[in-house]
Amino acid sequence: IDPTLDLFHEIERLKKEKNAILLAHYYQEPDIQDVADYIGDSLGLAQKAQNTNADIIVFAGVQFMAETAKILNPNKKVLLPDLNAGCSLADSAPADLFKKFKDQHPDHIVISYINCTAEIKALSDIIVTSSNAEKIVESVPRDQKIIFAPDKNLGAYLVKKTGRDMVLWNGACMVHEIFSLEKITKLKTRHPNAKFIAHPECEEAVLRLADYIGSTTGLLKYTQQSDAMEFIVATETGILHQMQKSSPEKTFIPAPPNNSCACNDCPHMKLNTLEKLYLCMEYEAPEITMEEELRKAARKPIDRMLEISA
Ligand code: 13P
Ligand code: SF4
Repeated sequence: IDPTLDLFHEIERLKKEKNAILLAHYYQEPDIQDVADYIGDSLGLAQKAQNTNADIIVFAGVQFMAETAKILNPNKKVLLPDLNAGCSLADSAPADLFKKFKDQHPDHIVISYINCTAEIKALSDIIVTSSNAEKIVESVPRDQKIIFAPDKNLGAYLVKKTGRDMVLWNGACMVHEIFSLEKITKLKTRHPNAKFIAHPECEEAVLRLADYIGSTTGLLKYTQQSDAMEFIVATETGILHQMQKSSPEKTFIPAPPNNSCACNDCPHMKLNTLEKLYLCMEYEAPEITMEEELRKAARKPIDRMLEISA
């Protein structure tokens, strides 16, 4: 790329020329968030993808998010700046193993967190995100047995909240599993007025300390509406950009990881860069493609989620 190119300007130009919409998750780097048409959590992004009139959807996020956009829009071009942007949660549930697990529980329905592959979605009855999971689990008749996959932490949180005894798949997010209970406790002592807020992908012991638990959008809204001036945030650090932008007078502290070499950045989300975004819009690649049979099977549980969340 010509180093003198103004990538912000070029991306804006390409959006108009190609009638493209740029959707970004809160975990994207700040530059990408700043040039996006819409920034949201997984549910917001799926709803935006469902309702757009654009010809091209450029997804600044990870594979399962771009796949969801493609499942909802078979006739649109869906681009992902780096096809290697996967997700440890999605990787933790390979379809062949999950199919066997499902066959061992024939009288259970499958509720899957949206952070999974299209193949797992096709084996599921309803998809949920962190913002609608509780409501959707509650909507299932109480005598219906449930498998919840792939996140055991979100699953355990839902079991606690709803009192439903779900069978959990043993998956986890590599970013939300590394927070140190000990260091968070120390930090809370040093900042007694700070609110500790956490994403439900965190482990139960961390969630027990939280003043508020929610999706990325939920966490952002909480910081906007709360009277507190300081927040310790247990999720990926990308969200701090919007928190700081909408409440410049407040202080946001990333929750400390258990290993000083670790950080709260998602290595998958952070594979996308402004340069890759520009190139992907210019050359309309890499593109998400999917076999029609798989797409149709994966769409059903997403539609059920969107109906319940409307
Ligand atoms: P939400 O933005 O839906 O809360 O999801 C968080 C996440 O880990 C996405 O990968
Ligand atoms: Fe997956 Fe965790 Fe990264 Fe989200 S933050 S994309 S759940 S690995």
